[in-house]
Amino acid sequence: MKRAPQAGTAETDEADLAGHFEAFDQLATMVALSAPDGSCLQANSALENSVGVSRRTLARGNVCDWFTDPAQLRETLLLVAANQVASSRFDAQMKRLPGHGAASAELPVHVIVSQTESPTRVLVEMIEIEQQTRLDREERTHGLAQANKELVRNLAHEIKNPLGGIRGAAQLLAMEVGQPRRAGDAAAPGSYSRRELTEFTSIIIQEADRLQALVDRLLAPHRRPHVVADVNIHEVCERVRSLIQAEFPRGLTVARDYDTSIPEFRGDREQLIQAVLNIAHNATRALAERIAAGDARLLLRTRIARQATFGRQRFRLALELHIEDNGPGVPPAILDRIFHPLVSGSDGGSGLGLTLAQTFVQQHQGTIECDSVPGRTVFKILIPLP
Ligand SMILES: Nc1ncnc2c1ncn2[C@@H]1O[C@H](COP(=O)(O)OP(=O)(O)OP(=O)(O)O)[C@@H](O)[C@H]1O
Ligand SMILES: [Mg+2]
Repeated sequence: MKRAPQAGTAETDEADLAGHFEAFDQLATMVALSAPDGSCLQANSALENSVGVSRRTLARGNVCDWFTDPAQLRETLLLVAANQVASSRFDAQMKRLPGHGAASAELPVHVIVSQTESPTRVLVEMIEIEQQTRLDREERTHGLAQANKELVRNLAHEIKNPLGGIRGAAQLLAMEVGQPRRAGDAAAPGSYSRRELTEFTSIIIQEADRLQALVDRLLAPHRRPHVVADVNIHEVCERVRSLIQAEFPRGLTVARDYDTSIPEFRGDREQLIQAVLNIAHNATRALAERIAAGDARLLLRTRIARQATFGRQRFRLALELHIEDNGPGVPPAILDRIFHPLVSGSDGGSGLGLTLAQTFVQQHQGTIECDSVPGRTVFKILIPLP
């Protein structure tokens, strides 16, 4: 008679393990299963994404090698495995592989080490500290951004109406001033000459036109319908690349690093070109000095992200487009507000470029994030893929 396999045998444990561990792929936090000496047995997909290495490779390595200062983890693994403590938590820095598109080489995490049913296996959870605060912040700013948008839109409408009246009146006045003087009309002492009066009316008209243009930009995202068709992100990138390269034929290298396996998705091509172009234009403005020096660099990079979380949702597959420059970086004083309307760090900027870009990308259920340090600024566009 054949006996059912007994619980606790090595074989059933391995099968059980694989089956249970799959569930960890649904988590946004990084999870690894390791031996007491740190040998990695399993890694979930959030971990793969964050470290930028496949789980096969991860499972051949040692958990401690992912940390800049592994002493505490090494000790904790042994303590937990030996049942001296059931679980332990601490903060640590994880290493990030170069070329992973993040501005910093280290990732601050909160580590939780806990026991499993088996004394030879320890569970290591790593929660991105940034991710936690980012989620909190996103939650808070979401409502605010919504209110902001409404306010700007209503305000734009309110400005638009009287603006037409002002411009019309100034035109009438200009015509009146231009009329020849009737006999008996004496210029009042100290009054302005006709030429000066005409100048005033033309100033009123010019300023009204300037405001009109501003208001039109504020209302732009709500005006044109969202045209949906199949979009190839690399066509979008190439279009922007050729426009930028034509504008700056010298002093600026526009490099590209594409993952050509990215599938097409439904979206509005023109809107996405506009969004990427706005970001690239900001970069070229920040790069002015380096363009003059001849070593300015703009990089367009595309990647696929798995199990990505943004815009308060989780997506199985997402497109990441990075627009990276080697300029001086976003002024720290405005870094957390650059996507708000009318926030600008440059003279003559109206502070609408990024607001528009963000609105266009949000219409694709996506979002734009920014990571900036002097010498390396990355704008990341994230869009869910089918
Ligand atoms: N790549 C970058 N490097 C440095 N600073 C940047 C970069 N991108 C944006 N910024 C900063 O963010 C600010 C806001 O950008 P945004 O495009 O919204 O407005 P703007 O460029 O000032 O005006 P507009 O785009 O309406 O003409 C910029 O003024 C600039 O200070
Ligand atoms: Mg701009």
